[in-house]
Order: sequence, then C-alpha cells, then structure tokens
Amino acid sequence: MTDSEPQLEARLAEQDSFEPPETFVEDANVTDPEIYETFEAEWPDCWERAAELLDWEESYDQVLDDSNPPFFEWFTGGSLNASANCLDRHLDERGDETAIEWVGEPTEEANRTYTYRELHDRVNEFAAGLRELGVEADDVVTLYMPMIPELPIAMLACARIGAPHSVVFAGFSAEALATRMEAADSSYLVTCDGYYRRGDPLDHLDKAETGLADVSHETTTVVADRLRDGDGFGHDLGPDEYDWDELMAAHEGATVDPVSRDAEDMLFLMYTSGTTGQPKGVKHTTGGYLSWTAWTSQAVLDVKPEDTYFCSADIGWITGHSYIVYGPLALGTTTMMYEGTPDYPEQDRLWEIVEEYEATQLYTAPTAIRAFMKWGTEYPDRHDLSSLRLLGTVGEPINPRAWKWYYTHVGGEECPIVDTWWQTETGGMMVTTLPGAKTMKPGAAGPPLPGVDAQVVGPDGEPVEAGQAGYLTVQRPWPGMLRTLYRNDERYVQEYWAEYSDTDSDDPDDWVYFPEDGAKVDEDGYVTVLGRVDDVVNVSGHRLGTMEIESAIVGVEGVAEAAVVGGDHEMKGEAVYTYVITEDGQAETEAFREEIVAAVEDAIGPIARPESVVFTPELPKTRSGKIMRRLLEDLANDEELGDTSTLRNPEVVENLE
Ligand code: WTA
Repeated sequence: MTDSEPQLEARLAEQDSFEPPETFVEDANVTDPEIYETFEAEWPDCWERAAELLDWEESYDQVLDDSNPPFFEWFTGGSLNASANCLDRHLDERGDETAIEWVGEPTEEANRTYTYRELHDRVNEFAAGLRELGVEADDVVTLYMPMIPELPIAMLACARIGAPHSVVFAGFSAEALATRMEAADSSYLVTCDGYYRRGDPLDHLDKAETGLADVSHETTTVVADRLRDGDGFGHDLGPDEYDWDELMAAHEGATVDPVSRDAEDMLFLMYTSGTTGQPKGVKHTTGGYLSWTAWTSQAVLDVKPEDTYFCSADIGWITGHSYIVYGPLALGTTTMMYEGTPDYPEQDRLWEIVEEYEATQLYTAPTAIRAFMKWGTEYPDRHDLSSLRLLGTVGEPINPRAWKWYYTHVGGEECPIVDTWWQTETGGMMVTTLPGAKTMKPGAAGPPLPGVDAQVVGPDGEPVEAGQAGYLTVQRPWPGMLRTLYRNDERYVQEYWAEYSDTDSDDPDDWVYFPEDGAKVDEDGYVTVLGRVDDVVNVSGHRLGTMEIESAIVGVEGVAEAAVVGGDHEMKGEAVYTYVITEDGQAETEAFREEIVAAVEDAIGPIARPESVVFTPELPKTRSGKIMRRLLEDLANDEELGDTSTLRNPEVVENLE
C-alpha cells in the first residue's frame, strides 16, 4: 500500500536517515563496507586501485612521492594519455556504442549522437587541425564554448597532443576571458559563432572578439558554427580566425598518435574565484586527476559501461570536466550533454530528457532541485523516470526538505542520493556516501570517502567535538588534488596550506589542506558542510569572488567605495548583495544603480548580477579600518546583529537597517 501524499510527506519529514535501496545494492559497483578499513590499512597504495582503472603506457614506480610537501606527486614515473584512455582503448569493444548523447536546444534536428569511434575520429581530426595551427605540447589552449559537442572534442584533442586546456565558462564576460587568457599566456582560442538560450540566438563571437582585443599577445582562433543558417550575426572571420568545419575537412580521416604524458604533466587549468580579485589557475595533472575522476565515477556515481549517465552541469565548471567528460568517458559509458535550460520550452524539460533517453543516473545541483520543487510535482509526475538508478547533487549544501523531495518525486524512493562535497581544487569527490554501502542522512554530505582523511577542526587545528561547528580540513594528500596554482607556487601554499600546516616542515604529516569551508561532523563521522568561510559567494553553486565584484563596482565613475557580501536567497542559495558609497555630487538614482549592476555583468557575467545595491554614506568598519563583512551579511540575511562594539562607526549600521 502506498501512502497518500500528505501521509508520505509527514512520514518523510520525520525520517533522518535512509538505507540504500535493495534494488540498487544488488548491482552496485561497491557494496563492501570493509572498504574503509582496507583503504586505511593500505594507504597510500590503496590508490593503485584507482590507477588500475586506466591504461598506462609506462607503469609508475611510486604511488606517492611526498618528499617535498605540499608539492605532492602521484604515480611518479608513469606515463599515459588522457584522450587514449577516454577513447582509443574502448574502440575494440565499444566502438559502436554511444559515447556522447547530445541534446540540443529543443529542436529535433539539433540532437547528435557520437559513438566512441566517431568521437575518436573527430578528436583526431581536430588534434591534427590544432597542430597545423602551431599548437605544441604544453601550449595552453583556451576553450570559450557553450554546451556543444565541439567542446569535449576540443578538450580531448588538446589532451591528445599534450596541450593543456583552459575552459572559460561561456556565460563569463569578455573581460573575464581576456584576464584568463592573459594570465595563462594562452595564444590559442577555440570558440563559436553563437548559441541558443530559450530559443533565442546569442552572439558569442562578438563577446570573444571583444575579449581578444584586450589580450596583449598574438592569438589564433578557431570558430565553430552552432547557429542555424539565418540566425547568424553576419561575422566575417579575420586573418587569425579559422573556421572549425574547414579545419576539420582539411584533416578528414587524419590520425594523431596520442602524446605520451608523464603522470604529473598538466592535463588542464581551470580558473576559479578566490579571496583576491585575481582568479586562481588551478593546475590538474594527467595521472592523478584521471585516476580520481574514474574511481569516483565508478564508486560514487556507480557508472557502468551500459549506463546512460546524465550530469546536467555545464562543462565550463569543474563538475562538467570531471563528471561529464573525463570520468564517464574513461569508464566507457554513455555520457549525456544538454545544451538548454531545465525550464524551456517547459518546466518538465529535464524529465522529458530522462524519459526519452532512459537515463540511469542524474547528477545535478541543489539550486536546480529547489527550482523543481517550486515548479511542482506535476512536472516530474508527467514522465516515466523509472530508468533512474541513482541521484546526485553537488555545488552547495542541500537542505533535508529538498533532499527528500528529490528522493521521492524524482527517485521514486528507489534511488540512493549522493550529496557530494568537493571543489575545483580537489579534482573530484571527497566527502559523500558510497551509495551501495552507506546509510544516507539528508543534509549531511556523508563521511569522507575511503582513503580520504577529512576532519573538522577548531581554530587551533584540533578536531572539534561532534555537533560543533569548525573548519573542514583534509589531513592527507590524494591523487586528484591540485598540484599548484599556475605559475604561483607561493599563493598555492598561502591559500590552501598555510592556515593549518607547519610550513617550515619537510614532514608530510605536518601539512594540512584547508578548503576554506566551514563544517560540522556528527557522532557517526558524517560531515555537514556549512559554506565558505572566505570572501567567496556561492551563487547557484557557482563560485564568485567578492573582491572581483567589488573591483568592477569601484571602476564605475561616481563610486567611492563598495562592499559585496553573499546573502541567503531562496532559489540561488546565495545571492550577491552590494553596499556602495558614492562620490560627492553623484546622484543616488535608480539609473545609477542599474549602471552598477551592468558594470558587474560586464566584468564577470550575468551570474554575478547583484540582487540589491544599497547606497550608504559609510560602511561598518573595525578600528583598524577593515570592512566588517559579517555585519553586512547579517543585514543581507535579516539576522540579529551581533556585537557592534568593535566598530569604529557603530551608527552606520542603524542607518543601513
Ligand atoms: C561548495 C564545485 C555543500 C563548497 C564541485 C565548496 C558544497 C565549493 C558541496 C566548491 C556540497 C560543493 N555541500 N557545499 N555537496 N559541493 N560545495 O570549486 O563551499 O565550483 O568549497 O566546485 O562549493 O565550488 P567549486
């Protein structure tokens, strides 16, 4: 007998833990709870199991070289190629199986299927094309593209010739593109003419070219065609711009031998927001990163070759790199890519796709789940979602109510949910349940994965008691970790290690990684992540630096000073709240407010759009002159204000309220 809707909601609301569904456990990749003890006993050799998921040209001599902390190296002496691991090795057995199932904006003609052989062939042709344009091993190639198949093709082509890629999210502004190309000293760009958003064509090439105009070195660009005839913006390609189709045609049938890469050679760079205005170039390597994404895809997402696995993230962010492209393709499964948004043409678009393609896993973000909840159960109810075996979330904390909604209305109480905590820097998942072996607790991400030593500590670096808030740390290195910040070893040590490590020590045990998240842990070792403790706002699961936004605002003529904080937001998790001091004589009008909002969008992109702009004659400052962000956050969140006695100017707070 099934519960009525209100009965079901009432029953679920009370339940604070859930066992993995039997039907899932029967066929799960990992079911043995002993795995935690085994990995502990075998550490660091336990990570050979991850490395064994890959084909190595030269096997490694050492699992972990920890002689120069925090510059840890993994699988040293080994060599491999990521594109060969994602493509070539699957050809014999799975050449005719689907590698990428691409769902374009909702027009029948847009959908495209690539078998492993077809993807392999396109990657070879593009790799040959890049070489012809002069790209050599270790040249950074910037990819500024939306969710079109040319993006993973370009990534794998770069990997094939040993050229690290740096993907810049297509929604980022021209300025953000220029900063990243400049910082990486990248002379090659792959982009496209435009793409569709809710049916309307957007001019992407114009934005790319505006960015290129600000890059101080010579550049070569390849432009893919996405827009249908008649929707284009009439661009003529300049002398340093090459048409994707012509380049591919010139290399039709080409084969390019995968370049042998050292395990520690850079696979890609990914820029992410940090505490200063300058984005950080996170460096990931070939052996460690690929092992980590393959292992976690298998153990946590339960990916099997026969699956049709669907991650709805954008490849412009780390989630898409690790869990649309590298992890799933390394395991030889079918990975889906969706170009559009979940609410176009209707709010059941994702469910329609799940049903049509019989997706077996869905990996998405809490912000999307909150939107689905708001839209209502009638949308998932319209579709047969019984193909789903597992659900996942990433990017921000998920509250128990949203978790339970996802569990019931999408998973039909038959799918485990993995709430996966990780970061751009960690390369892949770190804290989450093993879906076939662990109890789930809505709201808590879970225990650290086997072999991962994550602990919640107090300001003194000692573990806090169960239930107490503290800081999340990782006490041991892991293969998927970032190796450094591109060309900035010092900032790498400073940002991630200095807080809890003895930085003068050569002993690896004295080095502790600090992800800059607050957390608490319960008596069973389950970690609940509380959010960032640095100056980063997490908008819909996307990291934005408050400093970057502030510098865009103070660049507006008439602005004297600005402070940006993250405040709670029902749908986005957090949103950008700004407090602005104007210069004398500047009118505080609605038009000026809009100018400020537009400046932020221009500098970063629409995702950074401020929720509110508050004009104020002063900002709350400590006696030493630092802006008290905590107070501004409390204001943005309508919370009781804490102690204001340390302020130099307590009266400003009253005026801001
Ligand atoms: C947050 C995204 C709570 C966290 C993969 C982290 C989460 C930042 C979770 C990284 C989760 C990610 N629960 N918070 N399951 N997953 N976060 O680099 O604050 O874009 O530090 O990587 O997102 O964001 P990034």
